[in-house]
Amino acid sequence: MNNTYAIVLAAGQGTRMKSALYKVLHPVCGKPMVEHVIDHIRGFGAERIVTIVGHGAEAVEERLGNKSEYALQAEQLGTAHAVQQAESLLGNLVGTTLVVCGDTPLIRSETMEALIAHHNESGAKATILTAHADDPTGYGRIIRGENGQVLGNVEQKDATPEQQRITEINTGTYCFDNKALFETLKKVKNDNAQGEYYLPDVVGILQSEGALVSAYVTDDFSETLGVNDRVVLAEAEKVMRRRIAETHMRQGVTIIDPENVYISADAEIGRDTVLQPGTMIEGKTVIGEDCIIGPNSQIVDSQIGNGTTINSSVVRESKVGSSTSVGPFAHIRPDSNLGDQVKIGNFVEVKKAAFGNGSKASHLSYIGDAEVGTNVNIGCGTITVNYDGKNKHVTTIENDAFVGCNSNLIAPVTVGKGSYVAAGSTITENVPESSLAIGRARQENKEGYATKLNQTQTGGPHNA
Ligand code: UD1
Ligand code: MG
Repeated sequence: MNNTYAIVLAAGQGTRMKSALYKVLHPVCGKPMVEHVIDHIRGFGAERIVTIVGHGAEAVEERLGNKSEYALQAEQLGTAHAVQQAESLLGNLVGTTLVVCGDTPLIRSETMEALIAHHNESGAKATILTAHADDPTGYGRIIRGENGQVLGNVEQKDATPEQQRITEINTGTYCFDNKALFETLKKVKNDNAQGEYYLPDVVGILQSEGALVSAYVTDDFSETLGVNDRVVLAEAEKVMRRRIAETHMRQGVTIIDPENVYISADAEIGRDTVLQPGTMIEGKTVIGEDCIIGPNSQIVDSQIGNGTTINSSVVRESKVGSSTSVGPFAHIRPDSNLGDQVKIGNFVEVKKAAFGNGSKASHLSYIGDAEVGTNVNIGCGTITVNYDGKNKHVTTIENDAFVGCNSNLIAPVTVGKGSYVAAGSTITENVPESSLAIGRARQENKEGYATKLNQTQTGGPHNA
């Protein structure tokens, strides 16, 4: 959008959160509040975005990276003072500036666009985004004149009891004529209950100087929630969760119980995939079509192919192919790569391991730091012994190998193509291709020995 700039206020500590984490970095559906705001601004394409940072500046900048420019507010003297810090970056520009608080994560791109359009059409110097709240406590209240014209804003702590009954609130989002904004900021005073320089005072000052100021009322109050404490954080999470779930449902994903499924804002899910209750899809996860995820699965920063089932299992930072089955009760740890038609069954832990197409570990195994070829069968209770107390070592199991139950594969070791490992083996040396490896104590039967024991010992061996 040409000649449109945005300023995001994110310098406050957020005392009311009672947290070591800076307020705007608290996640909503897995993404920091301020990043939601920035992503929504990027959604309509502001020409420049400046984030005002102060408390936790480094952490905020590290998280947002080059999604924004930054201006430092070293001391938090109020929202007007915060905006002023962007003057050296934006002060000389001609155009419209949107100001959004970093603690209003639910505000949509469409609403910001509508606000900007309303502002530009009306020719106002300042337009404030307002909403009607059932409970306006804590928000600034909009003061209107007899003809309904906007006169300004009064903060909760400065409001008379009569003004406190006003239900039209300042959402903390505004549009300004850029030049008028920076000129008027210089006139804002801090003679109020909090001793702060209030940004919404700019609207009142412009009005009193005879400039046209306006309000754009959004009918969705939930979109304007300002998160100041953890109670509202949970409300914001609920609204965002529902919004994300609805977007996926409209695109063809079945969610059995949307109240009981948690999907991150950045996840992608293909058509006809079914999400069952208790499922969490976190981070930048991508899930293909026709999958069944859940019940009770957690998938974090992973890619899942098509037609795959992940039942009651955890998958982290890994790739899972198509028509593959994971679980119930499997744990796929980071850097794993499961191919197509793979089966990882109950109580199997996989870590930093690749499974070729058609390979199986169906029960009770630990496969870590391993390269497993195609069509390999790993028997129940197999363990890749990858750690010598200091270093991790790799186990390689080549195509078509068969590893019998309860085997220890002591890495570094290779089980050659098409070979067999006998059940109960401890394999310390490489197994050549197409061989049988037996690494266990040979069984010895002492015939009649039990009878002899029964005769010589009182009570016999079974009663010992
Ligand atoms: C603010 C508005 C209020 C509005 C509400 C909407 C003011 C004075 N009040 O109140 O009218 O109804 O938002 O949610 O603006 N910040 C800075 N530097 C500062 C102070 C704050 O960057 O010196 C940032 C905070 O990090 C936060 C945002 O500005 O992201 C708003 O500050 P906050 O303290 O939450 O203001 P509210 O009391 O919510
Ligand atoms: Mg706030």
